[in-house]
Amino acid sequence: MMNLLNKNILYCFLTSLPLFATGQTRMCVNLRNWEFSRDSIHWQAVTVPHDWAISGPFDKKWDLQTVAIEQNGEKEKTEKSGRSGALPWIGRGFYTTHVRIDEVDNRHVELDFDGAMAEPVVYVNGRKAGHWAYGYTPFRVDITHYIIKGDNRIDVSLNNMEASSRWYPGAGLYRPVMLVTTSMVHLDSWKTTVSTLRLMRNKALMTLCTTLAGAQKNFHGSLKMSLLDNATGEEKDLGTSQMQGRNFNGGFPVVEPKLWSPETPNLYTLKLTLADNEGQELDNLSLRFGVRTIKVDSIHGFQLNGVSRKMQGVCLHHDLGPLGVAVNKAAIVRQIKQLKDMGCDAIRTSHNLPSQMQMDVCDSLGMMVMAESFDMWIYPKCENGYSRLFKEWSDKDITALVEANRNHPSIVMWSIGNEIPEQWSYEGRVIAEHLQNLCHRLDPTRPVTQGMDRADEAIKSGFAQVMDVPGYNYRVYRYDNDIKRLPQGFLLGSETASTVSSRGVYKFPVVWGVTPTADKDGQCSAYDVEWCPWSNLPEQDFMAMADKPYTIGQFVWTGYDYLGEPTPYDEYWPSRSSYFGIMDLAGLPKDRFYLYRSVWNKNAHTLHILPHWTWPGREGQVTPVFVYTDYPEVELFVNGKSQGKVKKNQSVRLETHGIPKSWLDPTTPEEAMKYATRYRLMWPNVKYEPGELKVVAYDNHGNKVGESAVLTASEARWLKIDADRTVLRKGIDDLAYVSVSLIDKNGTVLPQADDRIDVQVSGAGTFQAICNGDATSLESFTRPTMKLFNGKLVVTVKAGEKKGAIHLVVRDKKRGLKKSVSIRVV
Ligand code: GAL
Repeated sequence: MMNLLNKNILYCFLTSLPLFATGQTRMCVNLRNWEFSRDSIHWQAVTVPHDWAISGPFDKKWDLQTVAIEQNGEKEKTEKSGRSGALPWIGRGFYTTHVRIDEVDNRHVELDFDGAMAEPVVYVNGRKAGHWAYGYTPFRVDITHYIIKGDNRIDVSLNNMEASSRWYPGAGLYRPVMLVTTSMVHLDSWKTTVSTLRLMRNKALMTLCTTLAGAQKNFHGSLKMSLLDNATGEEKDLGTSQMQGRNFNGGFPVVEPKLWSPETPNLYTLKLTLADNEGQELDNLSLRFGVRTIKVDSIHGFQLNGVSRKMQGVCLHHDLGPLGVAVNKAAIVRQIKQLKDMGCDAIRTSHNLPSQMQMDVCDSLGMMVMAESFDMWIYPKCENGYSRLFKEWSDKDITALVEANRNHPSIVMWSIGNEIPEQWSYEGRVIAEHLQNLCHRLDPTRPVTQGMDRADEAIKSGFAQVMDVPGYNYRVYRYDNDIKRLPQGFLLGSETASTVSSRGVYKFPVVWGVTPTADKDGQCSAYDVEWCPWSNLPEQDFMAMADKPYTIGQFVWTGYDYLGEPTPYDEYWPSRSSYFGIMDLAGLPKDRFYLYRSVWNKNAHTLHILPHWTWPGREGQVTPVFVYTDYPEVELFVNGKSQGKVKKNQSVRLETHGIPKSWLDPTTPEEAMKYATRYRLMWPNVKYEPGELKVVAYDNHGNKVGESAVLTASEARWLKIDADRTVLRKGIDDLAYVSVSLIDKNGTVLPQADDRIDVQVSGAGTFQAICNGDATSLESFTRPTMKLFNGKLVVTVKAGEKKGAIHLVVRDKKRGLKKSVSIRVV
């Protein structure tokens, strides 16, 4: 039925009929191969998803903003370099491709974009067929009346305005574009919902609602249903229902249901077959869903499947570090697996609509999601931000968010905004109610929230009270006071912590406080002792979750470093990415990863020592040692000499000594240090001597239960390579992340090494990206060479279209070192 001139991959995931067999088959073609141009004169072949700006070069001139960041309490405008990543994402971009469509009669044809950055205008055969504005929104363009039999040309033009974002938005067709053809009367995946109505002991009652597309009001036909258990492959016929009219509201049982949760991400597929009144098949559609319920109330807090739990979440911006914003399943899987190992069970897609790919991964790996929409409404946070579009587009964007995503079991709440300036006004409250009602109309099963940063004003205006879930960004010290004023009786830490650190950078003396070491070198201390004026260290949030029954969870800012927003170095060049991440931009864990893991992961032990123990020149100087562990007590030894046992101080509680005059956080360094004693074990006066730093952990009964050590590194001897995967699949942009480090003869990493590493990839794959996690590095992510940052970097390798072996060779020319690894492509 359809041939593609430009090798776009043809696949059909929703049909039971063979391809090309009949005009009634649903066909989905992933349009991967495009030509791309910035000026519509010079063109290059690219594969979509594509981010045109990620190769750089980094330059402070891109999107140099002279602004006062009101959210940070700034009054005076200053020059902010790197605010949106210092990459060339601004301006126009053009994509073009061809598809051949051999059967056009009585076919509905549409293009499904999962987002296009930004302001996409779509042309088919030279005629404008559709457009959207917000770069994050999934949208569909009906091109039925624009196509011709044979070759069809599709063009997409994009435009990114400067000063439109507070982070790196990326640029281009950065999410998949699908061509979908169906019969004129068809099932519409956005208008078909499956949800759990009731969970009983051995049975779940599910509802199925659908509105047919292209059908007359008096449509007569039938809908056949079958249920597939994705884990076992067992399929059960659920029977056929008659349809009278376009709408169908029905239901079906799932017997002995396997519930969906982060711990048990069980999925089912509902297969629907639509036929006309003569039994002629019109369409078929498969919907993946999970059986699960969500509820939130003042007595039991947030409940998944009737069980109360507090969300242990992180906020994520949408970039994938050195891949930019071009979505990639393997990269998302890596993130979600790392987060799960930390004990994280939820993400917030701050501050925009997520990709379908990310939601699919969250469904199948088990990660709850707060799906967000906007960073601003009418009042601008950036000169050309979403506020330009809000009045005309916000309802359409919310509708697309909910309709495209409501069958994902992972999504447990919608968010209509982040730190919306209107929160203190009546007008803001009216908009909040409107957007929340819209979400409810489209999806009565999920609560709606938003992140508020000026809670006092938001309570005065009624803005906070109208929300299903009041979301607090920071300001833990307000919780006890404000909960009495919130009719909901519970609150969510929609954004927490904003602790800043750079992987492997330890600064002396260790100073606790509001970014005390900023303005020096573009780095923050990895001792996890620095926070922003509005924020705090992780401990305050841990205590709020552990001790206050009315809290329902938290979302830490952020799981990973992201491109842009280099606070506290907003005015410091060359900083171009954030310091907030628990993981760095390369996805390497910072020490903080182990602090969260020690509290959140209840299934594995954590015993992590910091800092590294290679400090030539610091002999005899105070070099504090911290241990992040779930064990209650630890003894520390330096070269066999005990430095004493330290036990967690479980009696420490969060103090809320009245509401501060300023909205900026009043935590003193002394308070922060005291709070830390409940979760960190600290030896502040250790004197450095080279050798071995060893810890022995004890349980509550004084039994020795664990041991760990770090050694002083000697001379560099080898390069070490750790590939996260050694078998990749061909033809699906599959990736391996290969960590490279410089080690001594014992395998200890040289923790300050900055040697240049050259990379060569040959065989069945290609070099994709390189990143060292240094927020001040201006080296390109897409050239196969980079310096180590504190002894490490990560190379990303992509499988090609054919089976075989990928050979990766890394070299440190300065020391004459070389290491290689083979990755199989199957
Ligand atoms: C919050 C904001 C985030 C980020 C963060 C940095 O106020 O919602 O987008 O800017 O601060 O701490």
